[in-house]
Amino acid sequence: MRSTKTFVITGGTDGIGAAVARALFSRGDHVVVIGTDPEKGDRLAREAAAAPGGLDFVRADLSLVSSTRRVIGEVVEAHPAIDGLVLCARYFRTHRRVTAEGFEDNFALFYLSRVLFSYGLLDALEKAERPAVVNVAGPGHDTPIDWDDLQSAERYDGVRAMLGCR
Ligand SMILES: NC(=O)c1ccc[n+]([C@@H]2O[C@H](COP(=O)([O-])OP(=O)(O)OC[C@H]3O[C@@H](n4cnc5c(N)ncnc54)[C@H](OP(=O)(O)O)[C@@H]3O)[C@@H](O)[C@H]2O)c1
Repeated sequence: MRSTKTFVITGGTDGIGAAVARALFSRGDHVVVIGTDPEKGDRLAREAAAAPGGLDFVRADLSLVSSTRRVIGEVVEAHPAIDGLVLCARYFRTHRRVTAEGFEDNFALFYLSRVLFSYGLLDALEKAERPAVVNVAGPGHDTPIDWDDLQSAERYDGVRAMLGCR
C-alpha cells in the first residue's frame, strides 16, 4: 500500500496552489497550505475533510520575513519529514509597496519567502525518500532581471517587478 506523503504549499489557498492541494488530498496525501485568507483556507479544509487525505491551513503573511520564519519553524516542528514543497505565493500590485520590514512587496513575497522556505525546509525534505521542490513561476518570460534595482526603487512596473523575482 502507498504511504501518505506530506506536502507544503505556499500560496496554497487559491489558483494553482489550491489546485495542487486538491489533487494531493484527493489521492490521500497530507497538505499544509499557507495563505492570508482564512475563508479560503477554511473552505479547502472542509473539502479535505471529505477526502482520503488531510489539510492544515496556516494563516500567514509571507511578505514578512519574520512571519515566514515563524511558519517554517512551526511546519518543521509538526512535520519532521516533508516530501514536497510547492512555491506559489504571489500578489500582483499596480503600485509599489514596501513592507513594514523595509522590502519591496514582490521582492519579499515572491523571492525572499521562496528562498527562506527552500532552505528552511531542507533538513525535513532530506528525510523524505524522494523529495521535490517545485517553484511555480514564469521562468520562460523574456523580461530581463534588473540586477541594479531588484526592489524596483527607481522605477516600478507591477508585471516587471513580479517577473524580476522569478
Ligand atoms: N495564473 C497564471 O496564468 C500563471 C501563469 C504562469 C505562471 N504563474 C505562476 O504561478 C504561481 C501561482 O499563480 P496563481 O495564478 O495560482 O496565483 P493566485 O491565484 O493569485 O494565488 C496566489 C496565492 O498566493 C497567496 N498569497 C498572496 N499574498 C500572500 C501573502 N502576503 N502571504 C501568503 N500568501 C499569499 C494567495 O493566498 P491568499 O489569497 O489566501 O492570501 C494565493 O493562495 C505564481 O508564481 C505565478 O507567477 C501563473
